[in-house]
Amino acid sequence: MDGNGRWAKQRGKERVEGHIEGVQRLRDAIKGAARLGVRYLTVYAFSTENWGRPEAEVNAIMELFCKSVINESPELQKQGVRVQVMGDRAGFSEKVLAYIERIESETAAGERLTLVLAFNYSARSEMVAAVRRIASEVAEGRYGVEDITAQTISDNLLSAGIPDPDLMIRTSGECRLSNFLLWQSAYTELYFTEVLWPDFTEEEFERAIESYANRDRRFGLVKK
Ligand code: FPP
Repeated sequence: MDGNGRWAKQRGKERVEGHIEGVQRLRDAIKGAARLGVRYLTVYAFSTENWGRPEAEVNAIMELFCKSVINESPELQKQGVRVQVMGDRAGFSEKVLAYIERIESETAAGERLTLVLAFNYSARSEMVAAVRRIASEVAEGRYGVEDITAQTISDNLLSAGIPDPDLMIRTSGECRLSNFLLWQSAYTELYFTEVLWPDFTEEEFERAIESYANRDRRFGLVKK
């Protein structure tokens, strides 16, 4: 969900105004995904590197998350959306942790769409944690080095149980993955758009899906 800051700056507003508008687009994306039959929607809301932003902005994003939980939970439940937060929980305040637990439990029954909120997430940290866990299980003799497969790694990432993404959308004209789902995106189709996240309407979301629908996915094989 990149470009919130630039969107605000272009309008002479504070960066946080961009994040506030960004939450509205997240609502649109959830609505669009549910309508189009997408089963999993993962959004990068906050990276482990984002703690390095000015304190006021970090606090505003945390507050916005808590407010969004209060405001959006009833509608998410109504739409059958289950929210799962993916990230290092050790970094959050007690208050934010309580809201994370609240949104996960309130929406636990949702079966239409799973919204995965990457919050205090970075792909390299999750890989380091996975390698440590696997190494300690090997050291304890639970399985041997030769038993480690790609599936073992997938099962030890924060995304365990969530299918690899078919499509990754990055807004705001940046053409990089920025430490997002690096293992999981091995065969993911990439979609880059100049549109800033606060301008990424349901129509833009549909455009991205349409582009995906016209891709030829071969997974390293040849066409039949
Ligand atoms: C990236 O744009 C956006 C973020 C780091 C924050 C995204 C957060 C929200 C949309 C609100 C949080 C709400 C929930 C529900 C978790 P940027 O700030 O990097 O924009 P820029 O590249 O133009 O500066």
